[in-house]
Amino acid sequence: MKAVRLLEYGGQLVFNDVPTPTIARDEILVKIKSTAVNHLDLVEASGKARQILPIDLPWIPGHEFSGVVEQIGSDVAACAPGDAVFGTTSGMGAYAEYLAVKAAAIARKPSNLSFEEAASVPVASQTAWQGIFTHGHLEKGQTILIHGGAGAVGAYAVQLASHAGATVIATASCDDEAYLNSIGASRVIDYREAQFEKVLREKVDVVFDLIGGDTQKRSFLVLKEGGHLVAATQPVSQEETARHRVSGAMMRLAPSGDGLGRIARLLEEGTIRPDVATVYALQDAAQAWKDIAGNLPGVHGMSPSGPGAARRRSHGKIVLRVAWRDHEIRARAYELYLARGAQPGRELEDWLQAERELTAE
Ligand SMILES: NC(=O)c1ccc[n+]([C@@H]2O[C@H](COP(=O)([O-])OP(=O)(O)OC[C@H]3O[C@@H](n4cnc5c(N)ncnc54)[C@H](OP(=O)(O)O)[C@@H]3O)[C@@H](O)[C@H]2O)c1
Repeated sequence: MKAVRLLEYGGQLVFNDVPTPTIARDEILVKIKSTAVNHLDLVEASGKARQILPIDLPWIPGHEFSGVVEQIGSDVAACAPGDAVFGTTSGMGAYAEYLAVKAAAIARKPSNLSFEEAASVPVASQTAWQGIFTHGHLEKGQTILIHGGAGAVGAYAVQLASHAGATVIATASCDDEAYLNSIGASRVIDYREAQFEKVLREKVDVVFDLIGGDTQKRSFLVLKEGGHLVAATQPVSQEETARHRVSGAMMRLAPSGDGLGRIARLLEEGTIRPDVATVYALQDAAQAWKDIAGNLPGVHGMSPSGPGAARRRSHGKIVLRVAWRDHEIRARAYELYLARGAQPGRELEDWLQAERELTAE
């Protein structure tokens, strides 16, 4: 199969042939349709955090995917070949044509989402869910401040918190104000223009910090006593939490198929929606990484955003689409055409329909 790999820390991404993975009894083999880019991919590849985020080189990046089940292990009962699924990876990465993954890490793809949209969901949505509910204990009627509200994780946090009946305040760039209002934020503070702790008149129950650094330090000033500071980017000072009589911790995503299934239902009923900014072909992953590097909040010592930094559209995920090769589409379309039994007089139309279904996302 084709895959994108990193051969050495800090090196170039290469796109070439690697062996197709085999599966264990509790795994499934997924034919990947799309995968999405996360900051974590770049951080792992840089080697700057190798003590806590080691990778085995050569390494295939990619923590999330959508695709179609190709094969199932003998212990797997929850899905069957042909099912459209999405999920997080549990070993090898998803920048590839095929992925072996634990059956427990996937869920059915929401039927109203394209494969590209579905690939953008698992990491950001589950981080948001766990950040605000599992760690932030957010409840109906409370107020939450979300730093980086227009980002991939932030946008789910805004939608989920608003759906749960909380008042949502987000920090973001002013360009994103209308977008954030449209997904449930009642107030947006432009972080480039205002200091949130100076303009907030009332304290909040929960801060979800997707930025870190000085933003995190200043967050203690706006938390109610007994409130929760949940950080996704760096540890929280326990001296500060004690001094301000709040709780605070850095979270680490613990993905699960059940959690993703719950999110899939919210997507399917239209309560929350995904946001895809750009789609690249898998082989153009290096360009996608250049785009996202310009938007890193800077807490990992990579490329900080700010004046002078290249800016992409500020919200939405970058997705990599695994294109089927022409001969593969033709062979699959032929199988589908035969399996359905062509209608006399409609052969060409039936054939084209099979091909359209296979190429449409
Ligand atoms: N702990 C975990 O398990 C976990 C899981 C997933 C993600 N994360 C981390 O969470 C962070 C956010 O991820 P993401 O995928 O949501 O990133 P993203 O999509 O790039 O979003 C970052 C957002 O932050 C905004 N921003 C930058 N500086 C800001 C500031 N000072 N104040 C307020 N907003 C600011 C950016 O807006 P502009 O572009 O307009 O500046 C952008 O909308 C990353 O560091 C990621 O590594 C952690």
